[in-house]
Amino acid sequence: MSSSVESYEAVMARKGEIIRNAVGIDYSRFESGSIAFDYEGMMESTGYGFDEVRSIQQRYGVGNTPLLELRNITALARRDAAPGKGARIFLKDEAANPSGSFKARRAATSVCHARELGFTGVIAATSGNYGAAVASQAAMHGLDCIVVQECYDSRGIGQPEIVEKARKCEAFGAEVLQLTVGPELFFVFLRLLEGTGFFNASLYTPFGVSGIETLGVELHDQMRALTGSAPDAVVVTNAGGGNLTGTARGLHQAEARDTEIIAASVDLSGLNMADDAHFNRKSFTTGHTGFGIPFTTFPDRSDVPRSAARPLRYMDRYVTVRQGEVFYMTEALARLEGLERGPAGNTSLAAALAIAREMDNSQTIVVQETEYTGAGKHLQPQLAFARENGIEVRFGDPREEAPGTSIVLPQDPSMIAAQDLNLDDLRRRYIKHAVAFARERLGHAAPASASTAAAASTPASASGAPGASGALSFTEADIEFLAAETRSSPDAVERMLQEE
Ligand SMILES: Cc1ncc(COP(=O)(O)O)c(C=O)c1O
Repeated sequence: MSSSVESYEAVMARKGEIIRNAVGIDYSRFESGSIAFDYEGMMESTGYGFDEVRSIQQRYGVGNTPLLELRNITALARRDAAPGKGARIFLKDEAANPSGSFKARRAATSVCHARELGFTGVIAATSGNYGAAVASQAAMHGLDCIVVQECYDSRGIGQPEIVEKARKCEAFGAEVLQLTVGPELFFVFLRLLEGTGFFNASLYTPFGVSGIETLGVELHDQMRALTGSAPDAVVVTNAGGGNLTGTARGLHQAEARDTEIIAASVDLSGLNMADDAHFNRKSFTTGHTGFGIPFTTFPDRSDVPRSAARPLRYMDRYVTVRQGEVFYMTEALARLEGLERGPAGNTSLAAALAIAREMDNSQTIVVQETEYTGAGKHLQPQLAFARENGIEVRFGDPREEAPGTSIVLPQDPSMIAAQDLNLDDLRRRYIKHAVAFARERLGHAAPASASTAAAASTPASASGAPGASGALSFTEADIEFLAAETRSSPDAVERMLQEE
């Protein structure tokens, strides 16, 4: 046991170097102060501007996906709305991408860049849609591809959706390493990167996230062409935060500053994603709170030193919906609009139905329908799997749903509701994580009593920065960075830091 622990520790100790070599970005050059880093500098460092990203995507069949008006679902929202209420609902159909999801936008520049740099293969750690996207792009470029997937519980049983996505990756020629749930995924991933010398096509590099900016711009341009104005709201399914970050950056680039950006996740509160016993008790493998909340409040938990996905910078609102509501809307989309799409996008659709009822009927709301559906994602195998795992499936009031114990499909669509998360609460949690992350990165022990005061006996840089004791000091750049990260004023950041 000790030798495997040692080798685990030895590999982990080299993780910064391994990642740097496998991504080709020196993240340290963007760091300053205790916490700050130059986010925009990092985003620009790829050398691929918006036009070039778009032209790569066009060359490899990515993007330019259709935008459709959902007239029958709009009528359903209006049926239960007050007079004059019920926004028009539109759908951006990302299933039309080559690998069947918006993740193709993320993979396109990464894989193209890997080939330009002379890498012979690419690796991605993913639950599947992104793996399929990388595999599909790698096939087009003639590169090898390895996908590392957390697939089974300790009994060797896998969620139908994850198992299906593994097959999709294999269909594009990728080698898929299917692991059981647990902490070894990152270790295996690092060893593979080192052993193969392949490119880390991480979801969270600037190559990946800037690829989604085209989605925001397209969505805006199509809405303008169709309705004469930018959308009033866009609902984006949120997990690791790249979807929201890229879409919002694209909308800002298109000058759509008044469009409300709403994150939506499936409520899986109470389930622990790293727990073997909980692993197969969720019907949704992405777009749920088990990823959405941790990544929103600590984006740098990803597989690169600094994530390019920073959703708290951009979200105006964050809502959750329940599993039963998403299953219901999946069927409603098929029955009312003749479209079968996957669960991740229908999370946003369920939220949009509820939010449209709050909005005026002259307003518009766009749903990002982010993925295809297929055998394992379909609601029948999902609900059958839930029942096999002892989960009660029934119709009733979705508020009675208990994640991991029951799935309650609404007796009537008027019961579908979007629950608002408290953004100030998420901001506080973000600050807490940022401080802990800085301490770890700079080798500071947590102070006995939390303090933002400078110890400053050995300033680490000319700009001020941390002292050698447990307390951290914060430069003006740190405060400005945290303000941008949390969309708060510097004063509010100071107050939140005082609470630490
Ligand atoms: C189909 C689909 N939609 C939405 C998301 C959420 O995207 P993000 O992780 O960038 O928040 C994912 C990511 O796993 C996905 O695969």
